[in-house]
Formats: sequence, C-alpha cells, structure tokens
Amino acid sequence: MDIKIVENQLAGGRLGQQIFADALAQGANVFGLATGSTPISIYDQITASDLDFSDKISINLDEYKGISGTHPQSYRYFMDKHFFSKKPFKASYVPNGLNPDGADEAKKYDAILAEYPRDLQILGLGQNGHIGFNEPGTPFDSTTHEVELTASTIEANARFFDNENEVPKQAYSMGIQSIMDAKQILIVAYGQNKAAAVASMINGPVTENVPASILQKHANVTVILDADSASQL
Ligand code: F6R
Repeated sequence: MDIKIVENQLAGGRLGQQIFADALAQGANVFGLATGSTPISIYDQITASDLDFSDKISINLDEYKGISGTHPQSYRYFMDKHFFSKKPFKASYVPNGLNPDGADEAKKYDAILAEYPRDLQILGLGQNGHIGFNEPGTPFDSTTHEVELTASTIEANARFFDNENEVPKQAYSMGIQSIMDAKQILIVAYGQNKAAAVASMINGPVTENVPASILQKHANVTVILDADSASQL
C-alpha cells in the first residue's frame, strides 16, 4: 500500500485528481466511483480541471434500494450533483434502486462490471472498516448483492427523509470481490473518527471483520490520509 499523508482535504483532492489524471494518461477507460463526503474534494478538482473523459465510463459502488435516482438522498442524485452535471462521462452506471428484484439487479450490475473492467476504483472508508455497503462479516468473495441495512444505519438516515417509511431498509452494493477486481484502488479517509479503521485496514489482520483489510492483498493501492486519520498508524 502506498500511503500518502496530506495536510488537508483540499490537498487530498489535488492528489486524488492527479491519480485520476495519471490513470487517464495511461489509457484508463473505466473509473469506479464512491459517494459520501470523503471524495467530494477529489470530484471538485476533477470537474474543475481541463481533463477530458467524455469518452470514458464510470461505475458507482452502491445505491439505496427503493428510491429513484431523482430522490435527493439517492446516490445517483449525489453523483449528478457533485460530478456528472459538472463534467459528464460517456456513460455513468449506478445500481438501479427502483429494481425491486435484488437478484436481478445484482446480475445486471455484475454484467456491467464484467463488460467494463475498472482501471481505477475510488473508495471511502467506513468507521467500522466498511467499503461500499460491505459491512463487517461480508464474505471477501462477494459480488454485487442486496444488503440489509442495520437498524443503526436506518436510524441515522431517518433525518434525511420526510417520513420513516421512506427510509431505505436495503441497498445494492458491489461486493468485496468486485472491488478487488479493479486494477488500481485509491482509498481515502480523513478525520480522527476514521483512525481506528485506517490502522486496522493497514496493519491489522486480513479479516472479514474489517472489510477494508482485504486491500492489503491488492497489488496497486494508494491510501490518502490526513494527520488525524493516520494518527493510530
Ligand atoms: C459510498 C460508500 C461508503 C462510504 C463510507 C465513507 O458510496 O460506499 O462506503 O465511502 O461510508 O463515507 P464518508 O466519506 O461520508 O465518510
């Protein structure tokens, strides 16, 4: 793992943009993307740059089940807002949250992943070591699957929705094997609340209890951290 410690999220955004640009210059065609607060500074730098990726493909990690891409809490909406509306790819895939059939959605998304092997996958890191919606205990050999959200996640999300019934109880996520299939991985984590997960990911045993620990087995991983998230290394 190539560990880079940056001064702040702006510097992390610049470095992430550079890694994206380098991959592009080396012929990358397919980019795996994440939502969440962490990658926003990278997306800001990429969309403000003069990089041309109008003939490239992006594939997102995950999406809530049961809400449409126009719902402000959907991951499709997030990506449109922070990335695609500013600078689009030729095509951008996000799981279809409105597909009621989890097995069918998983099959369709796995077919997309097989058709477009990712050159670079960008990831954020959960406080419990999750990547995508792959919570502790998810098998390392998992492909795209439907995830039952935990009670605490549902509760935490409730404030973003008008009423409780609207809060998604499930999500669709690339699996851990799907993530590992990318040629290159960039994982980013900022802040004290990620420090324990960062330490387990980098120095802990490779265990399904810490999904991100599998990245130790990937040949091409860059980790961008700030001083806080690196403080337990
Ligand atoms: C988002 C995703 C999640 C986040 C993680 C960190 O598509 O798959 O695994 O990357 O929860 O979220 P933030 O960046 O908001 O701390």
